[in-house]
Amino acid sequence: MQLLIEKIKNEGKVLSESVLKVDSFLNHQVDPELMFEIGKEFAARFKDEGITKILTIESSGIAPSVMAGLQMNVPVIFARKRKSLTLVNDLLTANVYSFTKQESNEISVSKKFLQEGDQVLIIDDFLANGQAALGLAQIVKEANASIAGMGIVIEKGFQDGGKQLREAGYKVESLAIVDSLADGKVTFRQDHKVEEIAR
Ligand code: G4P
Repeated sequence: MQLLIEKIKNEGKVLSESVLKVDSFLNHQVDPELMFEIGKEFAARFKDEGITKILTIESSGIAPSVMAGLQMNVPVIFARKRKSLTLVNDLLTANVYSFTKQESNEISVSKKFLQEGDQVLIIDDFLANGQAALGLAQIVKEANASIAGMGIVIEKGFQDGGKQLREAGYKVESLAIVDSLADGKVTFRQDHKVEEIAR
């Protein structure tokens, strides 16, 4: 998605060979117009999948998911990472291990929001090792609902989450795929294609 790629080029900060900071529009401050376009793009890419619900994880998955839900006219559920005062009974849960943070979190969703027969689109802001997406997929399975696909705002193509999820058979649509953060530069997968065409 060209608009997103331009935004990353202009505002993204390469923190290390594996971490991209995008807190000016996605992870802290949020750019509503960009999120609106992201919502439209997800809606277009999954228009034939009969989506009935969107499932994401707090916190940064919420903004793009709500915009996609608005376009697709479906509810958006976000899995909680911390125990909630009101969310105590009848929970669907999964354990998510973060390689980045080296910690495990139990994520949870109330059973009442996911039913058998739901066609669920899983959305997340980043795809790194795929653990969050796999945890969300487990929750959908626990509800006996179906996973219609996974929409990712930024995939880090040099980590193996995307490969793992596609090999597992999921339709994964990433709006920007970063192939490398080496030498302080962001290289997009699309850049390779453009270069190949130019040659
Ligand atoms: P995984 O789910 O794909 O296995 O990812 P991982 O555990 O490595 O990532 C843990 C957290 O770090 C997630 O956010 C994820 O979105 C984020 N993350 C991973 N790589 C990057 C990166 O290069 N840049 C940025 N900005 N974030 C990255 P989280 O802790 O759940 O944060 P939030 O959703 O509450 O903002």
